[in-house]
Amino acid sequence: MKKKIKNILNKKRKSKIVSLTAYSKNIAEILDKYCDIVLVGDSMANVLYGHKDTHKISLQTIIQHTLSVKKGIKKSLLVVDMPKGSYSNKRLALKNARKIMNLTRCDAVKIESNNKNFSIIYELVKAKIPVMGHIGFTPQFQKKFKIQGDSINAINKLLKEALTIEKAGAFSIVLECLTPKASKLITNNLKIPTIGIGSSSNCDGQILVTDDILGVSGFYPKFVKKYANLEKIIDNAIKKFSKDVKTNRFPKNKNSF
Ligand code: KIV
Repeated sequence: MKKKIKNILNKKRKSKIVSLTAYSKNIAEILDKYCDIVLVGDSMANVLYGHKDTHKISLQTIIQHTLSVKKGIKKSLLVVDMPKGSYSNKRLALKNARKIMNLTRCDAVKIESNNKNFSIIYELVKAKIPVMGHIGFTPQFQKKFKIQGDSINAINKLLKEALTIEKAGAFSIVLECLTPKASKLITNNLKIPTIGIGSSSNCDGQILVTDDILGVSGFYPKFVKKYANLEKIIDNAIKKFSKDVKTNRFPKNKNSF
């Protein structure tokens, strides 16, 4: 097992795992200083490309952004989302996961669970491709946002799903929008670390979309904490530039050759 993956596993019940998304080198370089895991998320479909969901982002686009992100990563574990449709059967999953790993030199891939695709995880792990699972609200498979694990029945179903993903060989698992009760039970019953998004502090680590916490994505669900309002800062800067150009205050001699 790769050392970086071992380090993540060793954090379980010892120290919290810090994760964020990146789609480009400059952001990745900053994240690398503070994050254990950097994810090239298919959320880029919404955040960067303005799509209404994550369904149409291509493997090629994900690879292209990962090549950029990789240039900014020295120490974090680099995980790449496999886009919808790229792992719908074992042969396709293996071909595409190998393509991502070989072309980008990332450390692992993430696949969303549809409560049926456990054998895909098993197949990838057997081929020595580290896999991060993802349960709860899974945007590739569910259209409508819904809190997950709000009944005993639903919690037990999620626990069974998480345990099966662990058994299939995943090294960690994202829990998206689970009730605190569900995330606690799953985190306590799994040997692998759970990474929460909107799933309370009961998880072994947390992940958020970087553009959301920087206030530049335009979409801020309840579970997001805005650590900056870049939209306001950018708006101000662009307004000043526009005014300077119109009033001939830019460029000055010092900005000219
Ligand atoms: O695509 C994404 O950004 C994700 C989240 C878990 C952050 O999958």
